[in-house]
Parts: sequence; C-alpha cells; structure tokens
Amino acid sequence: MYNSAFIGYGSYLPEKIITNYDLENTLDTTNEWIFSRTGIEQRHIADEGEYTSELATKAATEAIENAGINKDDVDLIIVATCTPDETIPSTAVKVQKNLGIKNAAAFDVNAACAGFIYATSIADSFIKSGQARNVLVIGAETMSRVVDWQDRNTCVLFGDGAGAVVMQATEENKGIFYSKIESSADDYDFLKTNGGISTTKTAGCIQMAGKEVFKSAVEKMSKSVLEGLEKTGLSLADIDLLIPHQANVRIINTIGKKLDLPKEKIIITLDKQANTSAATIPLALHHAFKNGRLSEGSVLALSALGAGFTWGAMLLRI
Ligand code: ACO
Repeated sequence: MYNSAFIGYGSYLPEKIITNYDLENTLDTTNEWIFSRTGIEQRHIADEGEYTSELATKAATEAIENAGINKDDVDLIIVATCTPDETIPSTAVKVQKNLGIKNAAAFDVNAACAGFIYATSIADSFIKSGQARNVLVIGAETMSRVVDWQDRNTCVLFGDGAGAVVMQATEENKGIFYSKIESSADDYDFLKTNGGISTTKTAGCIQMAGKEVFKSAVEKMSKSVLEGLEKTGLSLADIDLLIPHQANVRIINTIGKKLDLPKEKIIITLDKQANTSAATIPLALHHAFKNGRLSEGSVLALSALGAGFTWGAMLLRI
C-alpha cells in the first residue's frame, strides 16, 4: 500500500483588499470590534468577473510547478469548494480545462470549511488503493458571493482565495498517516445559507449562530486531533506544527491552550486573509512552506470544522 506525500504547494489571493477600516464606511461596525473578537484585520475579495475556478487554477499552477511534475502526470483533480462557478459542471472540471490536463478525473467536494480535510482524505484513499498516483487537491472559494454585505454578523468574517497541494504516491515513510472525517446532522441549522439551488434557485447568504459555531469548533477540532494522536500512539509533543482552519483567532488560541501547544507551533493567517472556508488550510500550508516551516520529517496536524457540522483531522509527515 502506498503513502500519500505532499510534494507541492501553491496559493492565490485576489489583489483587492478590504480592511476593517473600509468596512466602517459601509457597516455599523468598527475595526476594534472586528479585530478584538476575531483577530481579522483585512480580507482579499475577488473582482467582478473573477471566479473560484480562476483562483483555483492560479494556486494549482504554482503547486504543480513547485512539485516539479508534468501537469499531464496528474490523474485526479479534487476541488473543495462551496462556492462553485456554476452548478454544473464542477469547478474541478473547469480547472482541468484551464490547465489543459487530458487524462484525469475531476470532481468537487462540498464540506464547507472542512472541505480541504475531506478532499485530502479522499485523495489519500485513491492513492492508498492504487487508483491514483498524482492528485491535485485545491481548496478555493469566493465567499464574498455568499455573504450579505449588509449583515455585520457574518460578512466581516470571510474572504476569497485558493490554496493547492500535489499529493503523490510514495513507498517512503512520509505523508498522511492518520485521517478521519465526521459530520453531525443535529447541528444542521447553526451555520447555513438561506437559499440553495433546489429550495430558492439561488445560492442564498450565510447565516449562523456564532456562539454555537465557536463552541463546537473548539471542542470538535481539538478532540479530533487528540483522537488522532491516541490512535497513532503519538503525544502532543510529537506535533511540530498545527495548521487549523482559520475562522477566528480566539477559536485557534483556545484550541492551542487545550492541546498545550506553544504559539510558535501554530500557523495563523486569518489576520490578513480572514476565513476563506475550504481554502484556509492549503493557504496556511503554502504560507508555512514559503516561510521554511515544513522541514523534512516534521509532523503536521491539520484540523477543521465547517457547516453541517462537518469536521475532521489529519496527521502527516513531511
Ligand atoms: N460589529 C459590531 N458589532 C457586531 C458585529 C460587528 N461586525 N457583529 C455582531 N455585532 C454585535 C451583535 O449584533 C451583538 O449585539 P447585541 O449584543 O446588541 O445583540 C454583539 O455584537 C455580539 O457580541 P458578542 O456576543 O460579544 O460576540 P461574540 O464574542 O460571540 O463574537 C463572533 C461573535 C465573532 C461571530 C463569534 O461568535 C465567532 O467567531 N463565532 C464563530 C463563527 C465563525 O467563525 N464562523 C465562520 C464560519 S464557521 C467556521 O469557519 C468554523
């Protein structure tokens, strides 16, 4: 059986930036409120006519280059997104078209903010079973299109962006050695859009019960990492880097305390990028790579929670 190694990273953030101070001009809010409650200072926002597939394609191009493989060696493309370009075909097929990749399967995964953990765990299964050798996994979102820009409870939290990894089959002792994805339908109404294709024929806008989401994110994200350590016989001291979903710095700090991890071991990007849903973890991975934080042999813990609730954790060795 093969292991799935992460061999290339890429990301893309739209040029346009909206700061908390900009939002003071259009909403009944302040930089102080947003920053103190969330840790967010600014978010990148896609231009009109700039779609999820374009952000995804730019991140994927960089990841393929960084992996040093030929694009035609990619045999599976998975895009984690809840903001696809069109209802059909999938955004993954659009990325395949943009990249001119001939012999690959492509599909989208929607597990909201947990999408990247879901997508990489699916890719891992394809690699372990020998059905795929080089998998391009992308988290890409234009969350700015599913928020109500008049709703200060939600719109200040989100941003647009994409991150990508290339995963490759290897017989070496590296890559993903634990992953588990979960969901709980009891929490369906805590975080959802007020519309959808089959209900309102629109995408709807995000609505949420912030405090319940906060509580569940802390509890489920930390529990899922601890469960992974227990199942693999590792301890918290074995984690070199935690890459959590980036929703709120207070969520991340509370998880850090629960897991007794020093701040230096936790990657934070939400101050400059806000919550880009399925894109936060691959964006943070690329950030860690660019800053020399992914050394050979280091152990990474990834963890996320999203609408559903869906959640999961993954342990991997670089
Ligand atoms: N500016 C000013 N005031 C605001 C704003 C704003 N942008 N947004 C809400 N408020 C007001 C509310 O109207 C409310 O006012 P009221 O008390 O008069 O009714 C008050 O602030 C609520 O304040 P708090 O209770 O102190 O807010 P809290 O500390 O719970 O923070 C927040 C709210 C930031 C949403 C927090 O609950 C949170 O981060 N929850 C997690 C949600 C999340 O991250 N979702 C992202 C998607 S899910 C995911 O990615 C895991």
